Amino acid sequence: MSIESHEKILVLDFGGQYNQLIARRVRDHSVYAEIRPFDTPLDVIKAQNYKGIIFTGGPNSVYDPASPHYDPAILSLGVPVLGICYGCQLMAWMKQGTVSSCEKSEYGKIDITISGASKLFKGVPATNTVWMSHTDYISSPPEGFTVTASSADCPCAAMENEAMSLYAVQFHPEVTHSEYGNLILKNFLYEVCGCKGDWVMDNFIETTVASLREQIGNKRVVLGLSGGVDSSVAAGLLSRAVGNQLTCVFVDQGLMRKDEGDFVEKTFTSLFDMRFVRVNCQQEFVSKLKGVTDPEKKRNIIGTEFYKVFWDKIREEAGDGFFAQGTIYPDRIESGKGDAATIKTHHNQVKMPEDIHFDGVIEPLGDLFKDEVRRVGEKLGIPKELVWRQPFPGPGLGVRIIGEITEEKIKILQEADAVFRDEIKKSGIERELSQFFAVLPDVRTVGVMGDHRTYDHLIAIRAVTTDDFMTADWARIPYDVLARISNRLCNEVEHVNRVVYDITSKPPGTVEWE
Ligand code: XMP
Repeated sequence: MSIESHEKILVLDFGGQYNQLIARRVRDHSVYAEIRPFDTPLDVIKAQNYKGIIFTGGPNSVYDPASPHYDPAILSLGVPVLGICYGCQLMAWMKQGTVSSCEKSEYGKIDITISGASKLFKGVPATNTVWMSHTDYISSPPEGFTVTASSADCPCAAMENEAMSLYAVQFHPEVTHSEYGNLILKNFLYEVCGCKGDWVMDNFIETTVASLREQIGNKRVVLGLSGGVDSSVAAGLLSRAVGNQLTCVFVDQGLMRKDEGDFVEKTFTSLFDMRFVRVNCQQEFVSKLKGVTDPEKKRNIIGTEFYKVFWDKIREEAGDGFFAQGTIYPDRIESGKGDAATIKTHHNQVKMPEDIHFDGVIEPLGDLFKDEVRRVGEKLGIPKELVWRQPFPGPGLGVRIIGEITEEKIKILQEADAVFRDEIKKSGIERELSQFFAVLPDVRTVGVMGDHRTYDHLIAIRAVTTDDFMTADWARIPYDVLARISNRLCNEVEHVNRVVYDITSKPPGTVEWE
């Protein structure tokens, strides 16, 4: 069963900030959803046999001539449509209703009252709280539409034309602040669109493995493995499909966490059939970085050197066969501009030098969101440490060693980071933190150890909580845990005699120090 044969919902993107969330919520209800830009031709949409279409929110006013619109014929395809926020107003506009500017815009949690019986609100209490964010409203619903919910300031918080399967809500059912939002989306999928729910990860593994086998045949496939979640899960799937025909190229630049390179190698070679090619090149990296202190120069050297080593190895492996990458769905869509077709430049999707040739590129996770990738990873038996690992920057510890990078400093930071992580794990607060790590600033301070004066390194520890890493708060690690961490760092890590805790949020700080 390929994606084509799954039930599919179209999320038509009018530029709203929650559009990916809508698709994720639909998929959480076991129905495949894909995002397409608002200017996708009607013929393309018709050809896809969607079970339902969702118009997303967006920042515009429908009466502004420059705002994104759609051919009204989409409402007569016989495919159920749910309009959300801007999408709700657009539906009203397309059917000759009236949309006006609100006297009082609604923002935040608002109570609505449901009137009458609607399939969309099956099981939803008559009064409930939703998340609103709008400055326009439907002042006069189109002919043939019934208002099914209202709030104190919004006479049409939901409307529908049941006979035409057209539904619209002014609020955002996809955000968790809408108490029954999840149920409302589920009702749209199952009560209105008649979905059965065939998007489950077991099916995904089975069908992807079958189609990978068919595509690869008896040829080889080469994958760049970083040890991150996406490439690890891609490796697991490809190995399940073609076993030893898979070669994973793993470049260990020596800037990973303590023993991480060995852990990745051991995990993959013991769990899966594959050819594992590891390139160890710490010394080359350190010599290229000798004397360099400027953060941007360091990043640049690490990036350039990494891809040089990586592509040199891939060049050796190239030829008859395929190149695979751990690209995931959000890497492929550029939301917000209604332009999902444009491919973003992203570290998962790198441009191959022109002299390297393969028969084609395979992206086995190209249709999945991160949480789906993790579910696939768990089902493939990849260890939790890998599947649930926190983000780790491409330049590795290179952005956590301030000033010149030396082998000695890498060793000190690796040891300190390992102690810090161990103590966080033991204290049971690991899951509460989004990211935590040690930093080695280029600072030495005076200390005393036994009867001796010391002049040694300072370690900074950083722990943040965040939903999206765009903003972050420093984590309130309990004092007793901080005390144990500090004790252990000074006692167990040679050349460390002082510890500070970074209490800067983002903004104004960034998560990483460089
Ligand atoms: P900042 O420091 O920008 O970090 O607040 C936000 C998130 O991005 C990670 N990060 C990187 N990831 N290559 C990456 O793949 C990089 O160069 C890089 N720099 C920062 C950082 O660890 C945090 O999760």
